[in-house]
Amino acid sequence: MKHLIAPSLLAADFSNLKKDVEMINQSEADWFHLDIMDGVFVPNISFGIPILESIKPLAKKPFDVHLMITDPDRYIEAFQKAGADIYNVHYEACNHLHRTVQSIHASGMKAGVTLNPHTPVALLEDIVADLDLVLLMSVNPGFGGQKYIQNTYSKVAQLKELILKKNSRALIEVDGGVDNSNAKQLIDQGADVLVAGSYIFKSANPMETIAGLKSL
Ligand code: DX5
Ligand code: ZN
Repeated sequence: MKHLIAPSLLAADFSNLKKDVEMINQSEADWFHLDIMDGVFVPNISFGIPILESIKPLAKKPFDVHLMITDPDRYIEAFQKAGADIYNVHYEACNHLHRTVQSIHASGMKAGVTLNPHTPVALLEDIVADLDLVLLMSVNPGFGGQKYIQNTYSKVAQLKELILKKNSRALIEVDGGVDNSNAKQLIDQGADVLVAGSYIFKSANPMETIAGLKSL
């Protein structure tokens, strides 16, 4: 499978979101990556359901929603109604992850589980077969524009091995500090989806930057 590109709107121009949504529509990007932060699970607050609702009618690609919030079970239905296609919860935020994954599937969304940089891949052994996606954080979640953590390469390789061993359909997504210095190596290790925020939106020509990531 050709790898997918998911631009993170966290780095978009919030005073003119429509323009950036349309840019992504026209670009070679595959998904919208939407970072939801509650100021409790992570030390930052981003945006929430009203923003998803207002951009959903404009957007022509799936919504990959990354929930950096405590107790994400509470909002499964609300985000599904607001247009989420993939509901990505943090392993560290769920006490009953198996139940959470079942609830996400029951709502009609794809289920993703995200691991913080310190959380070992092996902890997914008994859940990976039920997942559509695993998101590996390559920075500590909470902010865009941070430096990529090198240890992520080996986590991608370990996760790939676990997915094959367990016959899982899960895609491997990497998020944080992704740019042209690490993207190729991540794909070579087995990454299926690359999230990029600053690298795309701070570049002179975001459409070309997306095309560059897609062509690797
Ligand atoms: C970080 C978010 C990321 C972030 C990526 O907590 O989950 O999606 O927006 O931004 P860059 O690509 O700038 O690291
Ligand atoms: Zn994210």
